[in-house]
Amino acid sequence: MFSRLNTVSFQGVDVITIDVQVKISSGLPKFPIVGLPDKAVDESRERVRSAFHSMGLSLPYQRITVNLAPADVQKEGSHYDLPIALGLLAAMNAIPSDAIADFIVLGELSLDGRIAPISGVLPAAIHAASLGKGIICPKICGGEAAWAGDINILAADTLLSLLNHFKGSQVLSPPEAVMEDEVAQTLLDLRDVKGQETGKRALEIAASGGHNLLMLGPPGSGKSMLAARLPGILPPLTPAEALEVTMIQSLAGRLNDGKLIRTRPFRDPHHSASMPALVGGGLKAQPGEISLAHHGVLFLDELPEFARATLEALRQPLESGKTTVARANAHVTYPSRIQLVAAMNPCRCGYISDASRACSRAPKCAIDYQAKISGPLFDRIDLHVDVPEVSAADLIRVSTGESSVEVAKRVKKARMNQQIRYEALETPFCLNAHIDGELLEKVALPDDAGQKILKEAAEKFKLSARGYRRVLRVARTLADMGDSLSISGEHIAEALSYRRLHFST
Ligand SMILES: Nc1ncnc2c1ncn2[C@@H]1O[C@H](COP(=O)(O)OP(=O)(O)OP(=O)(O)O)[C@@H](O)[C@H]1O
Ligand SMILES: [Mg+2]
Repeated sequence: MFSRLNTVSFQGVDVITIDVQVKISSGLPKFPIVGLPDKAVDESRERVRSAFHSMGLSLPYQRITVNLAPADVQKEGSHYDLPIALGLLAAMNAIPSDAIADFIVLGELSLDGRIAPISGVLPAAIHAASLGKGIICPKICGGEAAWAGDINILAADTLLSLLNHFKGSQVLSPPEAVMEDEVAQTLLDLRDVKGQETGKRALEIAASGGHNLLMLGPPGSGKSMLAARLPGILPPLTPAEALEVTMIQSLAGRLNDGKLIRTRPFRDPHHSASMPALVGGGLKAQPGEISLAHHGVLFLDELPEFARATLEALRQPLESGKTTVARANAHVTYPSRIQLVAAMNPCRCGYISDASRACSRAPKCAIDYQAKISGPLFDRIDLHVDVPEVSAADLIRVSTGESSVEVAKRVKKARMNQQIRYEALETPFCLNAHIDGELLEKVALPDDAGQKILKEAAEKFKLSARGYRRVLRVARTLADMGDSLSISGEHIAEALSYRRLHFST
């Protein structure tokens, strides 16, 4: 009495097919699970035994061997309960073996036979679709699986309902693909921020070109306020982006009722976050904050307070748009194409620019504080902007600034200009912040006046090669915001004003 069926194992966003083989043979009653199971998988025999009991079935009084192949891949998680239970039912001839052969099966069992939700159903369903198979999953995750396309989905809430479905006494209705409501989170409005015109302009440039942004200013000047308003001016996710974002949230077990996510992620981890929390990995590999912010914003408030090693770990993902975490026996990769927004005070007390309030260690305290951020990390941030204290006159005045909706319209237009250009150059899905090398030289060549200013500035400020390219990228965005094909001296001059604000330079 032998049966086999398929489930999956997750290696980052990659999905591997796992063959679940169940054999009932004569011998002393034992129930070993082999094939590198972790503790949660090993414990699944108790859940299966109890779930069978709740249906009035007992396990055969024989030797039951479960093999999870390939044997050299570590099996982690609780989603192996359901495939083991169905494999056992097939080996006992309670359900026909060929009925489950065309499915990828995953789900956790409760002791009373209910099928509990698990993470990763969307990537598993997409994998099943690529194999031409269907999927059997918990009922609550059915909506997620439905986004994988036209596949056969059996989403059940109990093991008994699945058994009845295969016997033909009950029909499981196919789940519907559901979307998150249009505005799932109330987006904050830019109109609430008084004054700070430079900060608002920098935020609009960052949103238009996808640039990373660093805001530097004294306490209470509105840095956190500005950053929190960035999602409100970014365009909504495209369908392809929405699917990728939902897939990562699914892997992290954070999906709300299996609904497709439509709002751009905004993640603001606390500065005490550990390296695995930020970049991913850890004992049970999970996407980190940088991957949860994929296609959205990662906001690091109080930047110098983060552990130095944690910040340095962001350098590679910021450049490549993906994070690779080395584990003891494998490398896992998560996508992390993010827009980094960081905020910091210029020094520990925050008042270096105000002689009457600065501490006695000024200016050394500012140099020490800012030196916590390495040059290469600063270099990866295209826009550096000073956010000074707001004056009382500004605060008292009734806000007449633009609303996020108006700014978002301009951002959309600037992004459209980029899309048209990069599609013509056969590099779609590009934003100005992501271009480099030959492409950058091709699309961001300033006119004569621009070249003159750039040359003078490069000599005067001793711009590094990376700094030079950063100015070009920002200037390209400024030109796109003004519907200009060429990059003028004005664009270069403004881009230069967002160069490094390092206290020591
Ligand atoms: N420009 C502004 N317009 C209106 N309110 C403001 C402005 N700046 C600050 N505030 C008020 O001050 C509060 C604190 O602002 P915020 O948290 O953004 O400051 P911050 O620059 O991040 O300070 P810190 O460096 O201490 O983190 C806000 O909640 C808001 O009520
Ligand atoms: Mg703040």
